[in-house]
Amino acid sequence: MTPRVVEATANATLANMGVGFDILGMALAEPFDTVRAERIPEPGVQIAAIKGDEGKLSRDPTRNTAGIAAAYVLRQIGAAEGVSLSLQKGLPLASGLGSSAASAVAAAVAVNALFGEPLSRPDLLAASLEGEAAVSGRHADNVAPALFGGITLVMGLTADAIHALPIPPNLHLALATPAIAVPTAEARAVLPANVSLKAMISQTAHVALLVRALHSGDLALLGAAMEGDGVIEPARAHLMRGLPEVRAAARACGALGTVISGAGPTLCSVCESAAVAERVAVAMRALYAEMGLAASVRVTVPSVGGAAWRVV
Ligand code: HSE
Repeated sequence: MTPRVVEATANATLANMGVGFDILGMALAEPFDTVRAERIPEPGVQIAAIKGDEGKLSRDPTRNTAGIAAAYVLRQIGAAEGVSLSLQKGLPLASGLGSSAASAVAAAVAVNALFGEPLSRPDLLAASLEGEAAVSGRHADNVAPALFGGITLVMGLTADAIHALPIPPNLHLALATPAIAVPTAEARAVLPANVSLKAMISQTAHVALLVRALHSGDLALLGAAMEGDGVIEPARAHLMRGLPEVRAAARACGALGTVISGAGPTLCSVCESAAVAERVAVAMRALYAEMGLAASVRVTVPSVGGAAWRVV
């Protein structure tokens, strides 16, 4: 018998990992979004409630990333019944932590589970991307790690183009999210249309170094490789107030590298232990406070396993 109510969670993601624009992403253990899906007799998707968004997200299912992903799954499986969704936002909006991707993935996983999992996990990539595309463009560097977990290399928009990369032991992350919203569309509009051959060589070298660091587990090398972005960060730096100062403060506390998370404004530091990450997070928050900016900080680790669900 298939369940009547299912709850799914999907995690925050560190898109780009600094140097890997649109091609690398890592699932983080916290924060995460939760979508509760209930089977209803009326076909289609309804959004019953959204909590934790300060009223900012659309309740119209055709304009909401979770609603769009849910409708896509219903169409794929040819469901005669519909679903009512309740969304609990654990992720801050427009913060660079993959908020729209997490909601889309959690909705796709919840609806599929509600109907007895007719689709495989890779099958759910298309629905998740459809939801994500409505808000922040069609790229899979948030959706893929949120769906599958771990660190993913994204070579394209189909499941066979997603490759798992190793997670180095002891990797801890300190996240600082200043109270400024940077919508992804805005952060993509400032990017250069062309890059020089010199920049291309440096960027690809740093991506290769990053992959090498993941395989060897060398966190210092990983931090250095992630910081090697000479294309995207310079174009976006003016949207990230205090980036050089926060990076320096984090480094002084032991951070091995600090990058913009996704399209920002969250900054993420690579650390070798929870204790170092805690110190770094406190220093980041203090630095933002000196600049007159409130910031929420968090310490987390990579998440494996991907989006999860349970019958409620
Ligand atoms: N790769 C994307 C970007 C992630 O940096 O624009 C944000 O969703």
